[in-house]
This record gives sequence, C-alpha cells and structure tokens, in this order.
Amino acid sequence: MNLKHRWIWMGAGVLLLLGSLAACQQAPSPAAPETPAPATTKENIPTAAEEVTPAFQVASFQDALVKAKEAAAAGNEDEAVGYLQAALELAEGEAEQGLVQELLEDARAGEMEEVVEDIETYLQSGEATLETVLEEALEAAQAGDEDRVLHELNEALKVAATEAEKGFIQELLQDAAQGDLEEVAEDLEIFLNKRAGGIGGPEVDKAQQLYIQLGCFSCHGAQYEGSIGPIVAGMPADEIKAAVRSGFPEAEVPMPAFSPQQISDEDLELLADFLSRLTLDDIGVHIPEETANHLQLAWEALEAEDKAGVEQHLQAALDALPEDGPEGLRVTLEDLLEDLGEEEEWVEGLAHHLEFLVGASGDH
Ligand code: HEC
Repeated sequence: MNLKHRWIWMGAGVLLLLGSLAACQQAPSPAAPETPAPATTKENIPTAAEEVTPAFQVASFQDALVKAKEAAAAGNEDEAVGYLQAALELAEGEAEQGLVQELLEDARAGEMEEVVEDIETYLQSGEATLETVLEEALEAAQAGDEDRVLHELNEALKVAATEAEKGFIQELLQDAAQGDLEEVAEDLEIFLNKRAGGIGGPEVDKAQQLYIQLGCFSCHGAQYEGSIGPIVAGMPADEIKAAVRSGFPEAEVPMPAFSPQQISDEDLELLADFLSRLTLDDIGVHIPEETANHLQLAWEALEAEDKAGVEQHLQAALDALPEDGPEGLRVTLEDLLEDLGEEEEWVEGLAHHLEFLVGASGDH
C-alpha cells in the first residue's frame, strides 16, 4: 500500500530470510529417522538444551509439519504427536504456536483426518502473511462468523508491519466488535484488491519517477497529500489524464498543460493509473472528525442533488479544519467549493472527490 511500506516489507523479508538461515544453523541435525545422519560438523552438533526425541528431529518448522502430516495420514498417532512436539519447539510467534497446539490436541484425540487437513491448508497458504490472514477474515466476515473475524483480525494485528496497517486493523476490530461485519467485509475487499492490483513493482517506480520529473510533486505534495494544488490521489484515471493534457492556465496557481512530448500517452496512462489507486491512508492524510462529519453530510446532500446543502457542508467542513490542519486537504476543499460555483455538471464534478474523501473517512 504505502510506497514506503514496500521497503519495510522488503526489509522484513530480508530479516525473515536471515532469521531462517540462523534458525537452520541452530536447528537440530537435519537427519530424518529414515536417512542416515550426516557427519557431525560444527553446525549440527546437538546441544544439551534440545529436548526433542532424536527420532523426531527435523530441519525446520515446515519440515516437522510435513512429517507430522505424513504420520497422521498413515494413522500413526505417536509419530504424528512426536513431530508436532518437534514443530512446537521450532514454532516462532503465537500464530505458529497456536496452530501446533491445536494440531496436538486433535492428534492426541486421534482425529488424524483433521490434522492432515489443517496442516495441508497451512502449508498451502504458506507463511501467515498479512494478506492470507486478512483473506481468512474476509471469508469469515462474508459468512457472518463474528468470532472467527475477531480471531483472524487479532492474528492479522500480529503480522502487521506498519502503524498504518495496525491502525486499519484496529478500525476493523472495532467494527467487528460492534457486529458490523458488512462494513468489515467491504473495507477488507477494498484493501485486498488494492494490494492485488499491484501497488508495487516497476510500474510504480516509473510512475513515481514521472511524478517527480514532471514537477507534479511541487504543487500536489511529495507524498501526494496536496499542497498549493489539491489532492489528486484517488481521482478517476480519465480525469487525471484530461487534467494533465489541458492544465489549468486560469487557476490562481496556474497548472501547466503537459504535451505528449513531455509525457507520452503510455506514461500518462501509467501515472494516472497509479495516482487513481492511492488511498487517503497511502498518502497519510487524516481527516479530523468534525470535518469528516460535514463531508459525510455534504455527500448526502450531493446524493439528494441539494446544491445549497453541499455548499453549506463543504464550507462547514473547511471551517472545522484546525489552523495547522492538513494543508492539502484545505486547498482541496477550497477547490471543490470553487468548482461547485462554476461547474454546470456539479454533481459529476464533485462526486468522485467527495466519494474519495468520505469513503476513506470511514462512516458511511
Ligand atoms: C504549478 C503547480 C502545478 C503543477 C506543476 C501541477 N499541478 Fe496539477 N493542479 C494545480 C492546481 C493549482 C490545480 C487546481 C486547478 C483548479 O481546479 O483551479 C491542479 C489540478 C490538477 C488536477 C485536477 C484536480 C481536480 O480536482 O479536478 C489533476 C488531476 C492534476 N492537477 C494533476 C497533476 C499532475 C499529474 C501533474 C504533473 C504531471 C500536475 N498536476 C502538475 C497545480 C499544479
């Protein structure tokens, strides 16, 4: 999501990799019972601290689960329990520990099919990444299973890497606790779509480069948060493309038009697509509550095509912004008020902007 977050994710990936390399070195000898033990080397001398029965020694957590699954599938309860105990030793974090403890309970109760199934599901889903956990939460929300939603969201909180992600999940937890599972499902869907939609990769790098090279950042904010020009994040791509080609020569701070020599159609497509996918969360704009409330009312007035109502609430939303409030948001609201006065197609002209601001302010 947030561009900075990509680096954090990559950093986390590297740490995980280093962590698992280290874990491999500390792990018990990789000798499985059916393979002969390799020569003892510096790396695999078993230490006294290891309590796993030698017969169930494994190379990794994953390995332990695979062996436990094989044993369970063969109906060998003791062996399954042995490998699960080995997995418990290697489990990192509460999510893994919780999983293994549940598996152990099932194995001890002789429910081998259950064990096989759960391990398969886990191995297929790979590591418990934020996406996979949130996908589970979405499924549960759609099924109306509040307990499971709360459980999955709490799991998600453990794997969330950034404050923005944690904040998002906290909000979902609140909605879920109030039984508003529809809202939870809706927000999760948007979040997961955005991620799958590829905010990331070379296209994003290119789009960010264009945004800097062409000087958009100097008027629309280095973090897309708005500045002397309005927030353009979240606008429909077509409108962005049209605005870039036409410019706003009449505006108080005139925006130049950009010709195909300055930015090709192809690159403009990329830039517009990128900008249109950004959320308020991505650009770090927090809308103060009172302003958010008035924006919501302005939105409702817009839906009722009540122009005077829209104007009144937009003005109130603007007035409610604190002095040091987000400057880009102030400029954006001023811009919207101006457009309202000028544009004949005021409903369409305003709808996307307001929807973006209201949608992300949470309560509709
Ligand atoms: C010199 C300052 C400046 C630069 C550079 C600039 N803009 Fe703008 N832009 C503005 C201003 C001011 C407005 C508001 C015009 C108005 O509505 O009166 C605007 C409006 C827009 C809008 C329409 C917003 C709306 O609410 O309808 C889009 C989209 C946009 N700019 C995108 C871009 C992109 C993309 C770039 C870089 C390729 C860029 N701008 C470069 C100042 C600038």
